[in-house]
Amino acid sequence: MALVVLGCGWIARRHARAARRLRLPVIFASRDVARARAYAREFGGVGAYGDYDNALRDPRARAAVVCTPHDRHLDDVLQALAAGRHVLVEKPLARTLDEADRMIDAAARAGRVLMTAENFRFMPAFRWVRCALDARLLGEPRELHLIARGWRRHAGWRLTSDAGGGALIDGGIHYVHALRWWGGEVRRVFALRPPQTLGDMAGEDAVDVLAECDGGAIGVLANSLAAPGVSRFQWSSVTGTRATCFVDNRGRWVLIRGRDGVRARLFWRDTRGHEAMLRAFGEAMTSGRVREMDGAEGRRDLAVVLAAYRSLAEGAPVNPAC
Ligand SMILES: NC(=O)c1ccc[n+]([C@@H]2O[C@H](COP(=O)([O-])OP(=O)(O)OC[C@H]3O[C@@H](n4cnc5c(N)ncnc54)[C@H](OP(=O)(O)O)[C@@H]3O)[C@@H](O)[C@H]2O)c1
Repeated sequence: MALVVLGCGWIARRHARAARRLRLPVIFASRDVARARAYAREFGGVGAYGDYDNALRDPRARAAVVCTPHDRHLDDVLQALAAGRHVLVEKPLARTLDEADRMIDAAARAGRVLMTAENFRFMPAFRWVRCALDARLLGEPRELHLIARGWRRHAGWRLTSDAGGGALIDGGIHYVHALRWWGGEVRRVFALRPPQTLGDMAGEDAVDVLAECDGGAIGVLANSLAAPGVSRFQWSSVTGTRATCFVDNRGRWVLIRGRDGVRARLFWRDTRGHEAMLRAFGEAMTSGRVREMDGAEGRRDLAVVLAAYRSLAEGAPVNPAC
């Protein structure tokens, strides 16, 4: 049974490559049939359609992978569920909590699996950080530093507030997820942003977020598309009472230094977690239960992002649960 990839753009290529390595059949759906056919040729797809609905109704389809702009996610998810398909939807799950709730409710009513494609959750290096915390190698977590800064000129839908939204809801949400996963649920955020550098972008091009997690750990998240000259080689860190763990943002290595000495691990395979994520999606479809990154989890990441945006607007700390 095949996966239907909705939208033949950049991230669709990552899913297509992972599916090919896992030998999963893929049907490509594009608004442009020539593009769908080109993807099918390149990635060995078993079908190509020039519209999403017909692709979803292909009898070989078991699930959809939604790879469209953020303002399309709700409609595309609802359409896939209406066709009886399970859904893996790219991050951010939605633009608002109301949209997220509508998706979660629709999946529950349809008896289908809804999973958020947060690949950071499935990156082997990032999972190793979680394991180090569980094994108490770091002691009690105290500080998390998540730095994702660089120079990136976007085009198209990412420049708009409706579809793109801004740096934090787009690429930054990966680091929001890591912050919650490693540090605990976020109970308070305070966000500030510098003056805009990328004048063609409606959303923020940079944001700095200070977060307080359950248990008291503090997170600092610096996210920027407007930082010329910054090295692409960046890492995040978690400091506990016994050690600090450094993890390459691209998932190639992890290093722990502290009272018990030094440990390091290198990662070569599936460093971005796309294969592991598709495997988890397959297991979820079989069991009927998403073990990690269900709709509710994607909604919690979104709630923190939206709280940071509220904090920017209000100039005050905000509790994501309120
Ligand atoms: N996990 C990650 O690391 C990661 C990285 C990048 C992006 N993403 C997420 O993946 C999703 C897609 O991002 P992307 O970078 O792949 O974007 P992209 O390259 O622009 O691809 C999006 C595709 O959506 C389809 N689409 C449908 N309606 C559209 C519209 N009104 N305007 C533009 N495109 C439309 C288009 O495919 P057709 O013309 O073929 O229909 C387009 O190629 C977003 O949710 C994004 O946040 C995740």
